[in-house]
Amino acid sequence: MYHNSTNRFCRVLATLERNPQVRRMEQYTQHKGNSTLHHCHNVAVTSFRMAQRLGWRIDESAIARGALLHDFHLYTREKRDWKHLFRHPRLALRNAEQLFSLSKKEKNIITSHMWPLTVLAVPRSKEALLVMLADKYCALREMRGHRRF
Ligand SMILES: [Fe+2]
Ligand SMILES: [Fe+2]
Repeated sequence: MYHNSTNRFCRVLATLERNPQVRRMEQYTQHKGNSTLHHCHNVAVTSFRMAQRLGWRIDESAIARGALLHDFHLYTREKRDWKHLFRHPRLALRNAEQLFSLSKKEKNIITSHMWPLTVLAVPRSKEALLVMLADKYCALREMRGHRRF
């Protein structure tokens, strides 16, 4: 059984969540009025908990950064059409890259989170796989009215 460092995960997540540019996600709604920042926080925490539950050794920093920035596209739900589903991971990556220097793994976490919809953007690590699954799980829970996990 592997034990990831909860401290490291929380520290990286908290640092990112204090960044004023990242906090802009608070202004945009995601599911049922939940802000995008809350959604990304939920996905980060859920992915980390899944890793703990499965006993998977993961990179705590990469999963926190990739998950928190996976929907960093900065526009409201009302402005979205079907193309949004396919395009927003790349847009999130572009915004994230303007602020941070991201590892290859972190970039793939962001771009592959809509897989299998984005057929070619395949999750290439345990971290990306967990974020891709946690995103769907959190979206469903948030649509049912759950806010922050
Ligand atoms: Fe997304
Ligand atoms: Fe998402």
